[in-house]
Amino acid sequence: MDIEQYLSDKQRQLEKSGQRIKDFGVFDFNYIPDKPLMRKEVKPVIDALLRYSQTGIANNCLILGSRGCGKSVIARYLMKLLSNQLNFVYSNCRQHNTSFKILANLLGLVPRGVGLHELWERFTDIHHKKTVFILDEVDLLSEKDRHKDILYLLSRSTNNYMAVLLSNNPKFTACLDESIMSTLQPEIIHFSSYNAMDIEQILTDRAKTGLVSIPKTVISEIAALTAKNTNSDVRIALKTLYLWALEPDEALTDHFEKARKDIIFDVVKDLNDKNLLILKAAQSQSSGYVKEIYQVYKKTSANFNEEAFSYVHFYSNLSYLQSLGLILLISTKVDRSYTNRIQLTFDPGILDTVWKMRFE
Ligand SMILES: Nc1ncnc2c1ncn2[C@@H]1O[C@H](COP(=O)(O)OP(=O)(O)OP(=O)(O)O)[C@@H](O)[C@H]1O
Ligand SMILES: [Mg+2]
Repeated sequence: MDIEQYLSDKQRQLEKSGQRIKDFGVFDFNYIPDKPLMRKEVKPVIDALLRYSQTGIANNCLILGSRGCGKSVIARYLMKLLSNQLNFVYSNCRQHNTSFKILANLLGLVPRGVGLHELWERFTDIHHKKTVFILDEVDLLSEKDRHKDILYLLSRSTNNYMAVLLSNNPKFTACLDESIMSTLQPEIIHFSSYNAMDIEQILTDRAKTGLVSIPKTVISEIAALTAKNTNSDVRIALKTLYLWALEPDEALTDHFEKARKDIIFDVVKDLNDKNLLILKAAQSQSSGYVKEIYQVYKKTSANFNEEAFSYVHFYSNLSYLQSLGLILLISTKVDRSYTNRIQLTFDPGILDTVWKMRFE
C-alpha cells in the first residue's frame, strides 16, 4: 500500500466513525456533564458551602484524592450550581504556579511593577461578598513560592473568604507551614477512587450524550480494565472509549494501552525534577528496595546539583507517586522484618524519553 492510499483509507475510516459520535466535546477532559455521578464524598463539600452561604463564616476545605477521581469536575460543577448564592473564583496552580501569578491572572493584569500586597488589596476591593476561592492542583504551587502566601492571605482575610483546595498529593499538608495550617484549619475530605461500576456509569452517561448508541459490553470492559490496571483514573477510561469510537475494529486492549501511555506520558512530563530523579533511581535499582533506591537517588541528585529530599520527605513523596499511578509500594518480608519495595507501573521508555528531554 502506498502512502496516499493509506491516508485516504484512514480518512474514510475516520469519517465513518464520525457517524458514531454525536458530540466530540464529551471526550474533552474539561467537559462538565449536566449531571456528574454522585458520590458520598461530595456531601461534606456541599454542606460546607451551604453553611458558608448562610452564615458567612468560612469553612475551608482540602479535597484529596488520586488522579482522575473527579475533584476538579465536582468543584467546577458545584461552582455552576451555586453561582446564584455564592461568588466563586477558580485558579489552577498548574497554569498559575505562584501566589503572584494567581492574583495577577484573576485581576487580568500583567504582573509587572506591582507587589503581592497591592494585588491582594485590589482583589479584596473587588470581591466583598461571600467568596469561595478554589485553588485546584494546589500542590503545584512552585517551590519558589516558599510561604504559599496566597494561603496565608486567604486564611487571614478580613473578608472571610472560604478556601477550597484540591490536590492529588495525599501528603500535601506536610508541605505546609504549621502556622498556615492552624489559621486555615481546613476540613480534609478524601475522595476515594472509583470502582469499576462507578466508571461504567460515568462512561454510560458520557456515551448517552456523545455517541449515537451505547456500547454496553465495550463500556464494561473499559471500566474493568481501568479499575484493575490503573488507579481508577477516569481520564484513561474516557480516552479509551474515544479511541474505540474512532476505530471500533481495533482490539480494545490496544486502545486501552494507548490511552494509558498517552496519559502517563503527560503525568511524567509534568513531574518536577525531584520526582523524576526518584523514578530514575527506582528504575536503575532492580532490587526495588526503598532504602537502596534512596541512596541512588541521593547520588544522582548530587550529580545534577539538585538538593535531595531527606529520607522522611523522600518516603512521603512515594505515596504521591503512587497516587499518580506511577509506582506501587509493596511490603515484603526480608529475614524477619518487613521492608518496602518500589515497583514502577508504567513503560520505562516513557521515563527515558522525559529524562532525555529534561536532563540531557
Ligand atoms: N463523578 C463524575 N461524573 C462524571 N464525570 C466524572 C466524574 N468524576 C470524574 N469524571 C471525569 O473524569 C475525568 C477526570 O476527572 P477530574 O478532572 O475531575 O479528576 P481530578 O480528580 O481533578 O484529577 P487530577 O488529580 O489529575 O486533577 C474528567 O474528564 C471528568 O469529567
Ligand atoms: Mg483536577
